[in-house]
Amino acid sequence: MMIVSQQSHNAISWAQDYDTRVNPTLMTRLLHEAIPVLQWTGWRVTEVEEGCCITELPLNHATTNQHGTHQAALLSLSADYTGGLALATLLRGVPFAGVHPCNEDNSAALWLAAMDVRYKCPSTGHVTATCKISEETAQMVRQRYFAGKRVLVTLPVIFRSNNEVVAEAEMKYFAQPSIQLKPTREKPAINPLFKHKLKASARMIAGLRATADENFVRLDNAHEKHAAGPHGELLAKRLQGILPHLQQTVAARTKHIDQTLLSIPNLQQVVLMGAGLDMRPFRLCHKLGRPTFFEVDLPEMLEERTRVISQLQDRPVVQRRMVGADFKCDDLAKVLLQHPDFNPHLPTAVVYEGCSMYFTEQENREILTLLSQLLQHPESRLWSDMVTPDVVDGTTQVQEIAAFVDGMEQLGEKFVFGCNDAAGFLADCGYRRAQVTTAQDYLESRDPTYSAYRFVVAEK
Ligand SMILES: C[S@@+](CC[C@H](N)C(=O)[O-])C[C@H]1O[C@@H](n2cnc3c(N)ncnc32)[C@H](O)[C@@H]1O
Repeated sequence: MMIVSQQSHNAISWAQDYDTRVNPTLMTRLLHEAIPVLQWTGWRVTEVEEGCCITELPLNHATTNQHGTHQAALLSLSADYTGGLALATLLRGVPFAGVHPCNEDNSAALWLAAMDVRYKCPSTGHVTATCKISEETAQMVRQRYFAGKRVLVTLPVIFRSNNEVVAEAEMKYFAQPSIQLKPTREKPAINPLFKHKLKASARMIAGLRATADENFVRLDNAHEKHAAGPHGELLAKRLQGILPHLQQTVAARTKHIDQTLLSIPNLQQVVLMGAGLDMRPFRLCHKLGRPTFFEVDLPEMLEERTRVISQLQDRPVVQRRMVGADFKCDDLAKVLLQHPDFNPHLPTAVVYEGCSMYFTEQENREILTLLSQLLQHPESRLWSDMVTPDVVDGTTQVQEIAAFVDGMEQLGEKFVFGCNDAAGFLADCGYRRAQVTTAQDYLESRDPTYSAYRFVVAEK
């Protein structure tokens, strides 16, 4: 797919855009993958033009009710994606988050805000849904979107069956560049969609831990299950379906970190960078001799962490400090060094787990360099994971890895950093004696797929 920047709408032709981004065959496939119920019903996109979309909801066993006519809510479902795709055709070259492979810098977020469906008569044949957007509305949508403004628009969808209008809907959507959903220093008021996305990946990882093989790593699955919730378990299952190695990979990293922490004599402090929904403090506090845990994450994630932890049953008393910070713009060393309870001269472990792949090389360099200042005791250690560059740049020969990275991209969690020489990279960031272990070696597996994922432990 050719992707254009938010400003350059006319950079590609409609014909090119149709071929690579919104043609009926491609959109039917992408929407079936993203919303399995559409596939289950046999719903498909039949025609797409700029500002227009026509779809078909067949009359079949899956779509009908006890009267043998369409289940009313399925017409609404069809309306949602018919109107949504018509709207998408207006934004040439812009991938849609959750559907097209993309990242938050180049994609649009599109959500249904409200709908009003009037059912006129039962449909007794396949139902065609048509959304045609007037030129005036189309211009308004494009002008606002490409000026970087939020679009709120109501679109008509007409349903026909056997040449009769069976229902009419008014669908209200909003669309905006995904990047704007991110909070900034100037506009910290956070968008619910950004919060949703943020929680999704942390829940997914908790979901993978919740179902880990107990013989391999002993986790308190009840805590992890609670942290994941049904959303995390669902996402974990979906991604595990794409990359069957995923669960074992997360289990391996969990065990490797646990062992690293347990190996540090008289460990006093554990800094969990991007703590997400990691329940390690409750699981390990006794075994580790009750260190203080510093849980660093975006304030919005810490809100969710607080909610989840407040509902945990039988949770041991743990010395925990939550520290809100944005790795991309805060001075992490300063944030922790100024914390009244943090002391860099005590034996400390800094765990940078499941994070490096989401930040650019330069961002990782800055983050890791700042973190090195926290390790001023000779026994202190940094733990980090890293993937190899081929995972990120699309040259991996392992099809499942490529599909998984695409899946993460569709979740809005694009991998952007990989490194072949983890020890060298950490040396540049002020660390020494980096020990690198591939997940393949750690798992003693013959499967080379695991070699693309590495654990590194280093000291300052
Ligand atoms: C994939 S999750 C990993 C969570 C946890 N380490 C685990 O393994 O369960 C990545 C975490 O990084 C956090 N994160 C993402 N961007 C961040 C940023 N700019 N600053 C701070 N934390 C961030 C997310 O909120 C999330 O909790």
